[in-house]
Amino acid sequence: FFLLEMFLLPLLILCDLQALKSMVQSPFPTNFLFGTASSSYQFEGAYLSDGKGLNNWDVYTHKPGTIIDGSNGDVAVDHYHLYPEDIDLMASLGVNSYRFSISWARILPKGKLGDVNLDGINFYNKLIDGLLHKGIQPFVTLTHFDIPQELEEKYGGWLSPKSQEEFAYFAEICFKFFGDRVKYWATFNEPNCQVIMGYRTGEFPPSRCSGPFGNCTHGDSEREPFVAAHNIILAHAAAVQNYRTKFQKEQEGSIGIVLHAAWFEPISNSTPDKLAAERAQSFFLNWFLDPIIFRDYPAEMKEILGSILPEFSSNDRELLKNGLDFIGINQYTSFYVQDCISSICEPGPGVTKTEGYYRQSSQKDGMHIGEPTDLEWLNVYPLGMEKMVTYVMDRYNNIPMIITENGYGEEDNPNITVEELHHDVKRVEYMDRYLDALLRAVRKGADVRGYFTWSLLDNFEWNFGYTIRFGLHYVDYTTLKRTPKLSASWYKQFVAKHMINP
Ligand code: NOJ
Repeated sequence: FFLLEMFLLPLLILCDLQALKSMVQSPFPTNFLFGTASSSYQFEGAYLSDGKGLNNWDVYTHKPGTIIDGSNGDVAVDHYHLYPEDIDLMASLGVNSYRFSISWARILPKGKLGDVNLDGINFYNKLIDGLLHKGIQPFVTLTHFDIPQELEEKYGGWLSPKSQEEFAYFAEICFKFFGDRVKYWATFNEPNCQVIMGYRTGEFPPSRCSGPFGNCTHGDSEREPFVAAHNIILAHAAAVQNYRTKFQKEQEGSIGIVLHAAWFEPISNSTPDKLAAERAQSFFLNWFLDPIIFRDYPAEMKEILGSILPEFSSNDRELLKNGLDFIGINQYTSFYVQDCISSICEPGPGVTKTEGYYRQSSQKDGMHIGEPTDLEWLNVYPLGMEKMVTYVMDRYNNIPMIITENGYGEEDNPNITVEELHHDVKRVEYMDRYLDALLRAVRKGADVRGYFTWSLLDNFEWNFGYTIRFGLHYVDYTTLKRTPKLSASWYKQFVAKHMINP
């Protein structure tokens, strides 16, 4: 009590409350971004409105058999019209940032050779201004899987080097129109997943694959993911160069890339399994980050893939010097990894040369790390967050990191009631444990600048359509009514406790 009276009380009077909060409560730094994340195709709807062109997902979802419930993003959660209400929901959560993506086909329906669609520009202007009006920083992903269909048809999308110029041009239009107000840019969302799903397993457009990987009738699963990735990496570099040379000084923003960052844990302490887990990181996360940060692919990839892996020319390496300002990490899940060079693994995807000769655990065969969920790929393993963030910190010299996604999905099926979906205790528990793990990484010195939860609302979950719900708000897909779940009030309290404003 004496101590309290002598030291703490005067201190309380002297310090303002925010500063005290930072000293006693939260290791999150001042100006840390707390937000929710979304993407254009999964949220906007209005797929033919106001001059928008068709994109690859519009076309893909309209093909029978592509989406589990036969649905599509034509209407999605109609964020295009309901965004003012959605901004209000964010304001009531008390978050200071919103991550969303721009629909490329809404801005450039025909790509570089066509006109800029000013109605599309107008939509994002209204969204950005509405956010800023409520003190919410826009965090913009330039492309989150969707590209104008025109580019797919004309050039073969990411398989063509022309995609690099197309993307750099689109990025430039966005910097020009929105960069006065947008201070955080991500070039791509999860290109590591995008190229595997689009060109190896064929589950995403352009749905190309071959061999044991999927049921496509065309494509080359061995080679094409690496070609598409190569073009995406150089497209990132070209866009960053545009930003650095023409906009960044004046606009004072930062630019990075977002990757899916599953943690890979060796299934045993054996050296081969440990090396296999390292290979898994190389063939997934470092595949993109090493070229952008170290200007070349990871050594293991080059060694194993040989001529399958494209090479960077000296001009490419010059371009790659543009690097990035932050690494966007989507951390949801972890997998065990087993070596398949020294031991015999089950045949099938995951054991081939192009995937680095390792096998990843799966809930299907009963082998998984942490606790399983309704989703095959989602295991609850909070330690994976701590390990991933500290791994990125060590490998990439503590370049600033932003957790651009983390969240919990549940299947909506006849066995679960709406009340149960509203009372989402499992999501609350998941976020609580993952944020705690993130805090441990921050205490170990990781330079983490933000955390976005996926997602503000239930929405269109790609191949799973509307059967999987990730939102802090429940969406009734008939009326589009949004209702806060338990997790919304939990996140609100967490943010209030940890947000430190300058
Ligand atoms: C990552 C993707 O970026 C997002 O589009 C997706 O909905 C979530 N993961 C959940 O699967």
